[in-house]
Amino acid sequence: MQKEKPFSQACENNKAPILEKLTELFKRPGTILEIGTGTGQHAVHFASHLPHLVWQPTDHPQNVQISHAWINDSNLTNINAPIALNVLNGDWSGLPAIDGAFSANTAHIMAWEEVEAMFRGVAGALPKEGIFCLYGPFSYGGRHTSESNARFDLSLRTQAPHMGIRDMEDLKVLGETTGLVLAEDFEMPANNRFLVWRNTLSRRLR
Ligand SMILES: C[S@@+](CC[C@H](N)C(=O)[O-])C[C@H]1O[C@@H](n2cnc3c(N)ncnc32)[C@H](O)[C@@H]1O
Repeated sequence: MQKEKPFSQACENNKAPILEKLTELFKRPGTILEIGTGTGQHAVHFASHLPHLVWQPTDHPQNVQISHAWINDSNLTNINAPIALNVLNGDWSGLPAIDGAFSANTAHIMAWEEVEAMFRGVAGALPKEGIFCLYGPFSYGGRHTSESNARFDLSLRTQAPHMGIRDMEDLKVLGETTGLVLAEDFEMPANNRFLVWRNTLSRRLR
């Protein structure tokens, strides 16, 4: 009997609107790095609809195996095997050369120092003018965009003080220190945002 695959209802809900944005942004062939792949539902959906791209899933070493079932079952040839990458102390130089990067619902799960490490690592791996798409809930000037985001933030911080919805002011400052400039900020369903960061510096890792 086939084992049930890990499943995220949120991924099912947000994969279509995210795909719409990725389709507009990643028009040219290239390799896209995904940080914090999770179940692999996103990787499979995006790679199957964007056959000109090679999708490179990664996740924290403790979670990287979670995506194997979805990716193996997909039989897609444009998804690479998932790579274990802890953004904080992982070996970014061991990744294949990338043309773009994507991450969904990770910034509020990571500790702030991990968010900083993710921006530094992505900026170092992207070519100049390469883009990093970051999806999730964010606040603006310390204000949440909805009551439900405020409740979600509180529940995250109660579970673990290092987690929490990140503020756009902090992310913009962080972006500037790493060479990533906010190019677009799209409103998405369910009080989420789709942030597009453009790399202004030349690739530094290789
Ligand atoms: C809420 S899940 C999101 C998964 C998937 N992107 C999605 O949208 O369903 C957060 C993800 O961030 C990953 N993550 C947390 N800390 C990380 C770190 N330090 N390095 C890499 N990934 C990390 C977790 O392993 C997990 O896969």
